[in-house]
Amino acid sequence: MCGIVGLACLPGRIVNPARAVRKSLEKLEYRGYDSVGIAVIFNGKIIIKKGRGKIHEVHSKFNFDGTPGNTVIGHTRWATHGAPSDANAHPHSDCLGTIAIVHNGIIKNFDELKKALIKKGHVFHSDTDTEVVSHLVEDFIRKGLKPYEAFKEAIKKVKGSYAIALITAYEPDKIFFAKKDSPLIIGLGDGFNFLASDIPAFLEYTRRIIVLRDNEIGYITPTNVVIENIVTEEKVNVQSRVRIVNWTPEMAAKAGYPHFMLKEIHEQPRALNETLLGLGPEINRAAELILKADRVFIAAAGTSYHAGLVFEYYLAKLPGIMSHAFISSEYSKYSKIADSNDLLVAISQSGETIDTLMALRLFKENGAKVISISNVIDSAIPRESDLTVYTRAGPEIGVAATKTFTTQVLVELVLALKIAELEGTLLPSEYNEKLSTLTKIPKVVEEVILKNEALALQLANTLSYKNNIYYLGRGLGVPIAKEGALKLKEIAYIHAEAYPAGESKHGPIALVEKDFPVLFVVLDDENKESIVGNIMEMKARNAYTIGLLTYGNDEIAEKLDFTFTLPRQEYFISPITYTPILQLIAYYTAVKRGYDPDKPRNLAKTVTVE
Ligand code: AGP
Repeated sequence: MCGIVGLACLPGRIVNPARAVRKSLEKLEYRGYDSVGIAVIFNGKIIIKKGRGKIHEVHSKFNFDGTPGNTVIGHTRWATHGAPSDANAHPHSDCLGTIAIVHNGIIKNFDELKKALIKKGHVFHSDTDTEVVSHLVEDFIRKGLKPYEAFKEAIKKVKGSYAIALITAYEPDKIFFAKKDSPLIIGLGDGFNFLASDIPAFLEYTRRIIVLRDNEIGYITPTNVVIENIVTEEKVNVQSRVRIVNWTPEMAAKAGYPHFMLKEIHEQPRALNETLLGLGPEINRAAELILKADRVFIAAAGTSYHAGLVFEYYLAKLPGIMSHAFISSEYSKYSKIADSNDLLVAISQSGETIDTLMALRLFKENGAKVISISNVIDSAIPRESDLTVYTRAGPEIGVAATKTFTTQVLVELVLALKIAELEGTLLPSEYNEKLSTLTKIPKVVEEVILKNEALALQLANTLSYKNNIYYLGRGLGVPIAKEGALKLKEIAYIHAEAYPAGESKHGPIALVEKDFPVLFVVLDDENKESIVGNIMEMKARNAYTIGLLTYGNDEIAEKLDFTFTLPRQEYFISPITYTPILQLIAYYTAVKRGYDPDKPRNLAKTVTVE
């Protein structure tokens, strides 16, 4: 997830357009911050200033504000293709330096487009997917098309998700745009117009906006806006699409949500979709490495450890591979065990957790191969791994992991299915059929959140007065329960403990007394009957019983004091679809107790000290 900005303005209407774009990018830094750049058109030439680093670092190096020009585009990057570097920072250009482009999204077919353009003699300067678009536009202009026509033909060749802003020295007052799956909004001014990934970028200049829709393409000038649908070629009635926003700048940075955590919970459908879109040949390579290993270990901390437990379960139940997930900080236990026939999977959204990095180094020292699953391209753990499979959740600002967990699990599920196919327990047709069911997950998560958010708020009123709670599950329900308990513990400061429901009789149930809250993760699996027994055990001790279960389990729902319901679904996706409910319960309980969910006490987003 990156942030893009465009500004076309009449001379003098905004004193320093480059400065205005830099300030706009700062408002979008929560969307990505590993590299940044701007491009302007001045005296018929394109000037690009860009580099790896945060906005203030690159600005102090190149002085963005000292760049003259009234047509400006800018970009703050969250790398998805091509490690963070000066060359991979946006904007990107063409061979002749007459075009500059910024992009947020993933171009799925960039490899084939790039190969074809190189064959035609185009010279590339980056590893990014984005750069193919500037060369495509250049190619069509060379064929005699006018810039806008060339831009349209180029976009027609692109597959994937994009929010694009492009300028060309041939038409210095225009900024061309195209939008599909990634957000792009026009800010309408008097003598100037903005383009941006999100409203905060231009909120101090205007509250009049047009939210662009998928497949819309067009351009802005300082006094005009043209929009059409690239598929139907219908012109859009611009005036009919103007809206007025009434957000404060602070609210706008959270897209109207009161906290980043709630925004990130709601972002999960998009994050899951982009993660699925972004998976490529690395899945096959990772699957082959796992299959080749004698033993598979999984190292992770906190929420990522719970994702590791899910992966352990997937490997056992799908391809039938034995693996061992362990909490990273316990890595020294394996100093004599790890060897060159082993494979370690290191799971870390930040890619910087020192415990997991130390576990990785131990296994590497002993000759093992390492695969990592991370959300931050080129971070410490991916850099020291033999192979990394990236989630594409975008930056996660809230300390509590939400979208990074569900996207980690999605990557694990694809990986486990691929392994099952490679070793023959799944036919290629069955693999493809299961993969296509995964594309429905974002919609299921959207429905789950829609149906259960108000219930989570309601339950928070009860839980906010509790000091203890159990989260119980069986099978895949155990890591889900563990993740739910961690969420409540870390942001609502309630002592929440998760354990396999079958374990209750072996001690924990001694704590249960009247109104003691017990939450059950009820899955449609072979364990369902047993977990009903556990519900009855708790009810017999007058516990306050809460359940998460799919539609049509009315006979179980009747036994519970409070229920959340989800659509009937493929069993293996339950960690992705059940967990958002547990995230919402934790979020609303924390808020009810008067805490800031984004900044829980004693915690940091990334633990880089042992
Ligand atoms: C989870 O909500 C916490 N923020 C924390 O447990 C986190 O999952 C853990 O520190 C691991 O972080 P990582 O995924 O970046 O390695």
